[in-house]
Amino acid sequence: MMNRDQAESLRKLNRTDLVALDEPNRMRVIAVTGGKGGVGKSTTSVNLAAAYARKGSRTVALDSDLGMADLNLLLGVAPERSLADVLAGHPISDVLVEAHGLHLLPGLNGSFQLANLDAGAREVLFGAIDSLSDRFDTMIVDTPAGIGETGMAFASAATDLVVVATPEPLSLADAYACLKVLCKRHGVTHAFVLPNSVRSPDQADEVVARLQALSDRFLGIALTPLPPVPFDPAVTIAAAHGVPLVVHSPDSPASRALAKVARRIDTLAQPETRRAGARFWRAELDRKGDRT
Ligand SMILES: Nc1ncnc2c1ncn2[C@@H]1O[C@H](COP(=O)(O)OP(=O)(O)OP(=O)(O)O)[C@@H](O)[C@H]1O
Ligand SMILES: [Mg+2]
Repeated sequence: MMNRDQAESLRKLNRTDLVALDEPNRMRVIAVTGGKGGVGKSTTSVNLAAAYARKGSRTVALDSDLGMADLNLLLGVAPERSLADVLAGHPISDVLVEAHGLHLLPGLNGSFQLANLDAGAREVLFGAIDSLSDRFDTMIVDTPAGIGETGMAFASAATDLVVVATPEPLSLADAYACLKVLCKRHGVTHAFVLPNSVRSPDQADEVVARLQALSDRFLGIALTPLPPVPFDPAVTIAAAHGVPLVVHSPDSPASRALAKVARRIDTLAQPETRRAGARFWRAELDRKGDRT
């Protein structure tokens, strides 16, 4: 047991380490990215969030696609506030919306300002999000298509990163481009690969094999394949109803696959990754600080 003076000097030394030591089970953050538009990032995000919530994890989904708020639609809600209000000074807890057993931090449709946050605004947002880490066990971050600064900053700050790719050649090229930016510019060393909309196990294997070959050759980032999600018309039907697929049609093939993906991410997560969760946004802010 340390005395008060020791505790005080430790606190002064390094707040980040103290957080990690004192609260090893703080919020785990899983970012879903992929480069190409329309490959299933938002679908994956919303269903992973719903799958975690169904397992009893206090879960929040964050729409970092701040200029095109898809999660609202997928969860069938029309929030009055969005993350834009946090930037305007509102408490982040006022922005949280409840839907289907989870919480949502909504983006805002058609907001150019939010799609292109400068470093100062990102810092405000990350700080506010960090303050939620006592309230939630799991945060799922949906990211926009492309390799824009805001999406990549959110993706690289997460404890776990899921890269969604479909068998289309363009999707593979964009997933690789995305991994390249995350690896070279943001120092990411590990990502899960999720083959989506596959029509056969061979297609899933090919998605993983191609990305693996490119990464081994040019990036050296470690990739872990996740169970593939099949092409399934039930996905679009659930989306049209504004209900997560795992709630709307729990027995559909894609739903079963997504539930399996959530379980697999849990099984594969390293204790170190979990602990890193405690310093999630803080570490991102520190890195920013180093650079400027
Ligand atoms: N496994 C699947 N089977 C069938 N349809 C799917 C599957 N996954 C996604 N879709 C459909 O593909 C479309 C795009 O999905 P989604 O919006 O999740 O992609 P996204 O990557 O988030 O797109 P954006 O880059 O525009 O944000 C939607 O119509 C969705 O219903
Ligand atoms: Mg999306």
